[in-house]
Parts: sequence; structure tokens; C-alpha cells
Amino acid sequence: MTTNDGGANSDRERIAVIPGDGIGQEVVPAAREVLEAVGPEFEFVAGEAGDAVRDKTGEALPDETRELAAGADATLFGAAGETAADVVLPLRNAVGSFANVRPARAYPGVDAPHPETDIVFVRENTQGVYSGHETDVAPGVTTLTRVITESASREISRYAFEYAAERGETVSHVTVAHKANVMRKTDGLFLETAEAVGAEYDVPYDDALMDALAMHLVQRPEDYDVVLCPNLAGDVLSDLAAGLVGGLGLLPSANVGREGGLFEPVHGSAPDIAGEGVANPAATMLSAALLLEHLGYDEAGQRVRSAVEGTLADGPHTPDLGGSATTRDVTDAVVARLE
Ligand code: NAI
Ligand code: MG
Repeated sequence: MTTNDGGANSDRERIAVIPGDGIGQEVVPAAREVLEAVGPEFEFVAGEAGDAVRDKTGEALPDETRELAAGADATLFGAAGETAADVVLPLRNAVGSFANVRPARAYPGVDAPHPETDIVFVRENTQGVYSGHETDVAPGVTTLTRVITESASREISRYAFEYAAERGETVSHVTVAHKANVMRKTDGLFLETAEAVGAEYDVPYDDALMDALAMHLVQRPEDYDVVLCPNLAGDVLSDLAAGLVGGLGLLPSANVGREGGLFEPVHGSAPDIAGEGVANPAATMLSAALLLEHLGYDEAGQRVRSAVEGTLADGPHTPDLGGSATTRDVTDAVVARLE
């Protein structure tokens, strides 16, 4: 134990808190209350990002905020508005994130089209068509270069199989999503690498063409456990899975880095309800649970998840779930369960 004053010598975990725009300003403070209620002595440091700071300073992601996230043990982020791409992608970069983990689960007490859904998407977070290599070749002609490397494919595959192996009691297999029949070189390399990594683990795996997989996810979501995806496929298929479990207000995500990590709800800034105090804080609280587990506080993470699940089961519910409760009401209910 060194000092406990939150100074530079503190050995407390440093959590960067970046609410961003819109309902980020409502759900991130709610999730922070939950982190405070659950125990570990964190040092919270606040940062600005998004449309509002862009309007003020010209920059959606000030260097200061980027450095804050890069230097923190973990970052809790809300959402940005129209500047989302200028904020989220560099922030994921700043924490060295290579894996985007998106659990999609239906919860008792919440209407879900497919209540049997319990899938974790492990999405490659740096490559594919999101590598940023787009070109105007000539007027009316554009190109995009899709980048897949063996090293990044191996790293994300290893993460997915480790994740599955550690959860052997609840995870029965890994499915590798790809389109290697068409993108033979790029997805061919992704699939081949994933299979080579999978062979090192005692976890069964199969693979699926991502278009057919989209259909099967809707028809039989209970057949899937961990789905390992290239970047774009993971983005699209995990949003599809949000629809299976009852909407965006419930989906957390972790951008796992080699050191830090960025934890954020899958949803955006929800300008249609921002400022009304009725945003559902569950996705951000569940992201906070992932943050706790990432830092090794497994029990605290599980407590947060149970408190959120209990509140989803018994209410109160925000309007997106058919209730009339406010963010404040839900936060009080979750915190009360933690005390
Ligand atoms: P959105 O996720 O903000 O909203 C979609 C719908 O879901 C809206 O009707 C909204 O009210 C509802 N919703 C979302 N989260 C909710 C919650 N926690 N509680 C209750 N209802 C919730 O997506 P949309 O409308 O496509 O985008 C709005 C803005 O957010 C855009 O400017 C977009 O660029 C940005 N965005 C940012 C993201 C990020 O920062 N990671 C991700 C997605 C969108
Ligand atoms: Mg998306």
C-alpha cells in the first residue's frame, strides 16, 4: 500500500470516465455509482469527448482525453453523437484494443423475441474493412482495401478460445464466422488461423458462412455460444443479436486491450430521449461489470450483474422496457441491491 490520496503514487486502479454526448451523460454517472457501491477503491478521472467538446474546441477527442484513456487501467465510456467514429475508433486504439466482446443475453422480466439467446460475440477490432484504407480512384469510383493479417487473426482467435475454455461450464463451443468461400484470401486466412488456434484447445468449434449464420441466429440462437468474427461481421451480427434479446438498452461491450480496456454500452447517444432522465442504464452498468472482471474483481463484477438482473426481473423498468421509471429510480434500485 502506498498513498491512498488518488495522487500519482496511488496504487488504486485508475478508471477513466468519459460520458460523451446525449444519454452518455446520464448512464455513465449511473454506472459509476454502481462501481462506487460495489467496493474496490478506484480513482476516477473524468474526460470529455464527443459533439459537445468538438463544438467548443474543434476536436471531438482532445489529446488530453486520449492520453487519459491510454494511461488508465480501464475506461468507462458512454457514447458520442455524430462524432462517434472520430471518438470511438481512436479511443479503442488508445487502449490497444484488439478484441470487442459483446455478450447478448436475454433477461428474465424483459420481453425478448428469443429469450433462449445467450451468445458472446468476440469481434476482431482492428482490421477488415474498418482498417480505413478507402480511396477515391476516379470521379464516381471508390475502393476499399480489406486487411486481414495472420498475427491479428491469431490474437483474436486465442482470445476467443481462452474465453470459451475459461467458461467451460457454460460455453460448449466456438463458431467461427467468415465468408471464406468468396473472400478466399482474407477470410481464408482468418478461418485457417482460427482453426489452427482452435486445435490447441479442448473446446469444440465449427465454422459458419456469415450470411447463413445471420439466418440461423434468428431461427436457432440457442445453438450458439461464442461466435468469433472478423470486424464487420461482428459489428452486424451482434446488433442482430441485440434484436433477439429485446433491444440496445441492454447490451454491454468490452474493448479488450493488451493493457487497458474500454467498456461501453453498444447503444449510441439516443438524442431522441437525451436530457429526459429516462435512459436505461443497464447496458452501461453491465459494461461496468465487464470492467470489474477485466481488472480481476470477478466477484464484484458478478454482484453488479446479479443486481442488474434482479432489477430487470422485478423492476423498476425504464420506458424502453415498457415501464415508467427514470434512470434515477433504476440506479437506486440497483444500488439498493448492492448494499
Ligand atoms: P442509438 O443507440 O443512440 O438509439 C437507437 C434507439 O434506441 C433510439 O430510439 C434510442 O432512444 C434507443 N436507445 C438507445 N439506448 C437506449 C437506452 N440506454 N435507453 C433507452 N433507449 C435507448 O442509435 P442511433 O439513434 O442510431 O444514433 C444516435 C447517435 O448516436 C448518432 O449520432 C450516432 O452516430 C451515435 N452512435 C454512437 C455510438 C457510440 O458512441 N459508440 C454507437 C451508435 C451510435
Ligand atoms: Mg455497431
